[in-house]
Amino acid sequence: MTNNLWYKNAVFYEISVRAFKDSNGDGHGDLRGIAEKLDYLQALGVDCIWIMPIYPSPLKDDGYDIADYYAVDKAFGSLDDLKELIRSAHEHGIRIVMDLVLNHTSDEHPWFQASRSDRNSPYRDYYVWSDTDKKYKDARIIFVDTEHSNWTWDEKTGQYYWHRFYASQPDLNFDNPKVQEEMLQVARFWLDLGIDGFRADAVPYLIEREGSNCENLPETHDYLKKLRSFMDQHYSGRILLCEANQYPEDVRPYFGDGDEFHMGFHFPIMPRIYMALKKGRFEDMAEIMHRTPPIPENCQWCTFLRNHDELTLEMVTPEERQWMWEQYAPEPRMRLNMGIRRRFAPLLDNDRRKMELANSILFTLPGSPIIYYGDEIGMGDNIDLPDRNGVRTPMQWDNSPNAGFSKNTPFSDLVKGAEYERINVAGQINKPDSFFSSVKRMIKYRKAHPAFGGSSMEWVDTGNQAVAVYVREHDGDTVLILNNLSASAETVNIPVKFQKSHLDLFTGQKLNLTDKLTLQPYAYLWLHIQK
Ligand code: GLC
Repeated sequence: MTNNLWYKNAVFYEISVRAFKDSNGDGHGDLRGIAEKLDYLQALGVDCIWIMPIYPSPLKDDGYDIADYYAVDKAFGSLDDLKELIRSAHEHGIRIVMDLVLNHTSDEHPWFQASRSDRNSPYRDYYVWSDTDKKYKDARIIFVDTEHSNWTWDEKTGQYYWHRFYASQPDLNFDNPKVQEEMLQVARFWLDLGIDGFRADAVPYLIEREGSNCENLPETHDYLKKLRSFMDQHYSGRILLCEANQYPEDVRPYFGDGDEFHMGFHFPIMPRIYMALKKGRFEDMAEIMHRTPPIPENCQWCTFLRNHDELTLEMVTPEERQWMWEQYAPEPRMRLNMGIRRRFAPLLDNDRRKMELANSILFTLPGSPIIYYGDEIGMGDNIDLPDRNGVRTPMQWDNSPNAGFSKNTPFSDLVKGAEYERINVAGQINKPDSFFSSVKRMIKYRKAHPAFGGSSMEWVDTGNQAVAVYVREHDGDTVLILNNLSASAETVNIPVKFQKSHLDLFTGQKLNLTDKLTLQPYAYLWLHIQK
């Protein structure tokens, strides 16, 4: 594990620790549970897992409300369990990154408890206090379904405190050098334990300034660069992955000159993949990719189809949002804030063809792909559960009681209709024709071809808007990708330069391209172009 640029062509996998595997029968998934499943992750072809927050927390936001940055919540195990998981993962050739929540703490964190106890507390300045709730009016509210203001009144000390998320998540004051230093120490603690890096949560909001929307401010970037240089100095080869739900031109500065984040999620391409599948046209995807600026050589995008949050529609126009809601969230309770609280497979009507096609797009776009746990088997959701819990239900390992997740009653209801009896890992892992095996094959071919780890993506004009055709090329390796987004068979014109015989990566057979090619509904092809 010596290649410092490992993340540039790696397959990531996001895990809700509580929902993945319960090793001790208390109904909660835990770190030892993940360790038990490393063989599984290795078989799928995962290079790096991202574990959601494991810190002690009152769980008002599923652990993104941290009460202690220096411990593991008992439900998940111990620091020793984490060390052991890291050791064993590395043995499997798998790295582990974890959430680093910089922007806010839980209101139960001792810093906030002290801060709100007295205006003269040495911790008062760890948070953002104000006599008025009229400051920073231009900052949007993120959890619009629950919060009406970014300010909450504190009765005891007679001031308002600032929070971008739930009121139970007060924002730290990054204008305070002590806060800046504290968070470097937090990073140091986990890096010393052996963690391979951080998915840095909600970074656009660290600093507030009057007259701005309080996102992406220069002072925020200054701090993030400090964090990066601290990591480069002491922990080279570890990474910072940026969660900035922004348009590509606003994410671009988070890469700096290759001296800020190693990676950044590409938020806007995600809903456009779903748009493309519904419209049977690729133009929205192409438009956002054209709008994506180049990034420094040592940086990489991270692409995804779903994650633990609602499918965010923040990076589309209001008209597009409305359309997406109508198409993908017909029942109002499927909607949450500015998004859709459903999982990948049900969004695509559990239609195997669409599910494979979406993955064909995911695995061939520039950037390193990340899979949300369970999506590799086409697991469903449970929209009876509140907030985003419906997409965080126990992993379906087999058809035994509790889906093989736990020996005891799980922390959460499962997907309804005993879906696990039909859709589970055991039923798919050894079947070459399962959805899991399709995803596994895509990962295998992706990893065998350097073309996918590069940054180039050239769209090919075939005269048919229903088929997304592009060339990926890197280090002398070239792959031509064709994705038929439509429910009907579609014919494309093949440009002269591609009218030869190519290797079809999935069949291992030669395919001779002539001037026209017809693709079946939702069919995809990955062709290796021989020089
Ligand atoms: C990020 C997380 C989300 C959390 C929020 C506040 O957006 O992905 O789950 O609620 O930050 O920490």
